[in-house]
Amino acid sequence: MKLNGIEKALMNNPIRAALQRWYEAPLLERLGGRLDGLQVLEIGCGRGVGTALLFEHFGAHRVVACDLDPTMVVLARQRLAAYGSDRLVLAVADAAAIAAPDASFDAVVDFGIIHHIPEWPAALREICRVLRPGGRFFFEEVTDHALRRWSYRTFLDHPRDNRFSAQAFVAEVERHGMPVTQTVERFFGDFVIGVGRRAGSLAAIPVSQDS
Ligand SMILES: C[S@@+](CC[C@H](N)C(=O)[O-])C[C@H]1O[C@@H](n2cnc3c(N)ncnc32)[C@H](O)[C@@H]1O
Repeated sequence: MKLNGIEKALMNNPIRAALQRWYEAPLLERLGGRLDGLQVLEIGCGRGVGTALLFEHFGAHRVVACDLDPTMVVLARQRLAAYGSDRLVLAVADAAAIAAPDASFDAVVDFGIIHHIPEWPAALREICRVLRPGGRFFFEEVTDHALRRWSYRTFLDHPRDNRFSAQAFVAEVERHGMPVTQTVERFFGDFVIGVGRRAGSLAAIPVSQDS
């Protein structure tokens, strides 16, 4: 689901960029490590601030970054113009149906987008599918605790049904074959941040209720 105008204004501003740069990226690095020389997929890249951090902060070699909203991809393209096509691919795409072969990325990064996806377990299934065994899934997510707040319900647009608590999100990440060793919850449980690591073969993943 695309952002409404208010949420776009909240996302596309220097405060959001500073939070990503100075808080979220260091925390995700502490939980999951660096990405030096690796192939990374970023889902819901927005205007590309996180994508730049994947290169500059985490050391990624190549990033494929996608967003459902073409206007966001245009902004990301402008921001990331310095990166050549050998290192960066930007695309309009749905994280619930990723057009990439199985086991093609070392890491997938989610800076706060999965709570926007109506059938969010389908996105987790896709993330696990495109990760190599041992590949990492870095996530920073917004829980139903936040989405139930008056401010979120009044001013922002999110799918209403089937949202998740921090525990339910982590359980679903693990059910899709990506054990999570450590998570942190922030702001009274509004946010859950952590890293899963893809284990085993695809055949080991239980049949999901969303298929
Ligand atoms: C809350 S914003 C976060 C943007 C950016 N990651 C950041 O942290 O600033 C969520 C982004 O996910 C995108 N999005 C929503 N549903 C999506 C989907 N199914 N697949 C890919 N991107 C999606 C939105 O267009 C938006 O840019």
